[in-house]
Amino acid sequence: MKGAFIAHDVAEYASAHTTPPDDLLASLAEETRRQTGDRSGMQIIPEQGVLLTMLVQLAGARRAVEVGTFTGYSSICVARGLPEDGRLLACDVSEEWTSIARRYWDKAGLTGKIELRLGPAADTLRALPEEELFDFAFIDADKPAYPVYYEEILRRLAPGGLITVDNTLQSGRIADPSAEGNVPAMRAFNDLVAADSRVTTVLLPFADGLTLIRKN
Ligand SMILES: C[S@@+](CC[C@H](N)C(=O)[O-])C[C@H]1O[C@@H](n2cnc3c(N)ncnc32)[C@H](O)[C@@H]1O
Repeated sequence: MKGAFIAHDVAEYASAHTTPPDDLLASLAEETRRQTGDRSGMQIIPEQGVLLTMLVQLAGARRAVEVGTFTGYSSICVARGLPEDGRLLACDVSEEWTSIARRYWDKAGLTGKIELRLGPAADTLRALPEEELFDFAFIDADKPAYPVYYEEILRRLAPGGLITVDNTLQSGRIADPSAEGNVPAMRAFNDLVAADSRVTTVLLPFADGLTLIRKN
């Protein structure tokens, strides 16, 4: 369960004191539950959506990239934080899941702001020009590939730009050296970022662990 390392009543309290999702996001979350069943747990939690919009706004970002779009919740939150002429490049492999995202981008009036690239995100990112393309990123896809996404985005990120990375505490299992599944990959990624002198970073015990990384 996301945020399992935070006491349930405290998590509920924090949620009750955070701006709630609007009707469009609530309806997207509901449709995602109906259409994807257990997979709907991959969606970010509403509080994280509020934080993403706020971070994009605080960073004054205009060009954003997302790795892992699913049915579109986080992409809508990122795109809403961008100015009118802002653009979000959304990367995913699933035509099926992103077809839901596309419908909601349309309903949200964000279709012109978001470009979807279908295919392995490592290929999509590597194919981009090696220049300052982004000032905000959200990484939320297949965990073993996080170091690749991080490196490819960092080299295209403007100084002062922000990368946000989801699931970095793995439901609190991150501190258990014997934990399996995605935990070893995530531990290696967290070590890599913490030791990287090109960035300043903070790993927030929020949601499933959200790491903020600012390019120096
Ligand atoms: C945790 S979900 C993303 C949730 C999304 N951020 C949200 O708020 O709803 C992970 C997504 O990564 C996508 N994915 C998995 N492997 C991928 C890859 N190699 N390249 C691009 N996307 C990938 C999956 O199709 C899935 O939609």
